[in-house]
Amino acid sequence: MDSTVKDKESLLARLLEAGGEPLSGQAIADEAGVSRTAVWKWIKELEEEGYRIRSVRKKGYVLEGVPDILTPELIRKELGGDEFVGRILHFDSVESTMPIAHREAQEGAADGTVIIAEEQTSGKGRLARPWTSAAGKGIWMSVILTPDIPPHKAPQFTLIAAVSVCRAIRETAGVEARIKWPNDLLAGGRKVTGILTELQADPDRVKAIIIGIGINVNQDPGDFPESLQPIATSLKIQSGQKVDRAKLAAGVLRRLGECSRLYLEKGFPPIKKMWEEDAITIGRRVKAVTVRETLTGTAVGITEEGVLELRLDDGTIRGIYSADIEL
Ligand code: BTN
Repeated sequence: MDSTVKDKESLLARLLEAGGEPLSGQAIADEAGVSRTAVWKWIKELEEEGYRIRSVRKKGYVLEGVPDILTPELIRKELGGDEFVGRILHFDSVESTMPIAHREAQEGAADGTVIIAEEQTSGKGRLARPWTSAAGKGIWMSVILTPDIPPHKAPQFTLIAAVSVCRAIRETAGVEARIKWPNDLLAGGRKVTGILTELQADPDRVKAIIIGIGINVNQDPGDFPESLQPIATSLKIQSGQKVDRAKLAAGVLRRLGECSRLYLEKGFPPIKKMWEEDAITIGRRVKAVTVRETLTGTAVGITEEGVLELRLDDGTIRGIYSADIEL
């Protein structure tokens, strides 16, 4: 038993832990130091939130079904005992999880703090583009990391995030996602995930890295705005079945913890190797559209800083720091 019941949230955690076995209302009331009526009210509130709970005479309460929402309790149940994930702040609807994460980081949030929302009304993409984040259809989250590294190494965490999400998608949803440099994930040739990395730093050290992850999970084609329909996809479209968002969110966070630890222990080389294995860009002829020019060549790899190396037709190697890549 991991949690003492003291409120509705810890009662839910206990019901989840019980794995379908009945929990005695009287035992919960005694443990929490409240009346049986108070326990009954928590149960009613959980039912109103979409949990299906059966009351079995003389035995207690049995959890029979959970709603499709990303509550901290559901994510934690899927995580098991993973130590990387700290506080999980869950919102129904926010403009964007990014400013909330920045505020939390400024107030000293610990490594592994997660901000997750069912819906973003003003989701942010790279290069100040909007990011469509429909209610209950995807995973829209920002993770706060506080590694002890100099600021020039922070972009490596974008690659850590891309590898983590790519592998979690494969493991949880069975979809073969691939990374398109720098940080898009494609499935079936269309964008299924975007990653936005932002930084709080002093000149010589990182204070916090905020990794914003947007995964299109359960949209049907018509759920995307018309302009996105030819270029966006979801895991449900790719796999033909609905994906459990709490399991996937937990999978991403578990992988992110593992890859961050690997990076802090062994440095960038193992991450670079994993990234190159998962990338669709490497070895391909690509067009890199930068603010100043358009270059065509073969993508040969990435550097320690995450810079894409392009071999141009005259054989010279050019480093691409920021560009839109067309395959
Ligand atoms: C991109 O590909 O342009 C990056 C998209 C990043 C979207 C995520 S969703 C969670 C977090 N909150 C935001 O407003 N943006 C990021």
